[in-house]
Amino acid sequence: MSGSTITPWVVGNWKMNPMQANAQQWVEDFTQLLKEQVIDSQSCRIGVAPTTLALLNIKDQLKNSSVDVMTVAQDVSRMAGTGAYTGDISAELLKDSGIDYVLIGHSERREIFGDHPQILNAKIKNALSAGLTVIYCVGESLEQREAGQAEAVVLQQICDIAAVVETEQWKNIVIAYEPIWAIGTGKTASPADAQNMHAKIREGLIQITSEGKNTAILYGGSVKPENAVELAACPDINGALVGGASLDAKSFYQIAHAFAQSK
Ligand code: PGA
Repeated sequence: MSGSTITPWVVGNWKMNPMQANAQQWVEDFTQLLKEQVIDSQSCRIGVAPTTLALLNIKDQLKNSSVDVMTVAQDVSRMAGTGAYTGDISAELLKDSGIDYVLIGHSERREIFGDHPQILNAKIKNALSAGLTVIYCVGESLEQREAGQAEAVVLQQICDIAAVVETEQWKNIVIAYEPIWAIGTGKTASPADAQNMHAKIREGLIQITSEGKNTAILYGGSVKPENAVELAACPDINGALVGGASLDAKSFYQIAHAFAQSK
């Protein structure tokens, strides 16, 4: 038991994977697992973030699921509304297609695609104004951790968005703490280290917003069925953002199950 009153979120981040046929098979397998053993949405909110190409197909296919599964966009344009912005998709367009959730600030977007705080703030502002719920990702690099800067870096990333999130919009923010050195590496922060950082994030959020005590703070970075139970038992770890292991329907189901049991 984690002792937390926050309903956990377990979200699969598929990144630039998989091919359509595999994505469809995944939904069949995952919904079958949910049918065999229900995970009710009061005990865990489950979401999946496919590629933009697959987003609507997956959303449609998930309509048949016995349990509500959220479809989450992996990113959003920094430009709002509609217009001459070749290649981008705005928050309004996502919302118009029935997508209610979006990841913003994933370290791969920050590092590979140059999403710096100003860009991220524009994305967050637009997403919240369009009525999307934002899963905002934060996390330090190995060099920053080794230099003893992990906490300062992560808290700064949280403070960065405070300028654009209006008081009543904090309830539409979920935080995902993903230490960069743990993403896709097989290295997980120990539950104690992760809990430590989550507690600091919680303190920071409480200082910024009265919603801070209710904000779900997810952990991400090599979460798998083998470590999910221990992570889920930590009071300030309110779910997981799962990359690699989410591509396997059974592993992802087991992780969601572990968090559902932790409540
Ligand atoms: P991972 O990825 O689970 O493969 O480490 C997590 C993420 O990048 O969201």
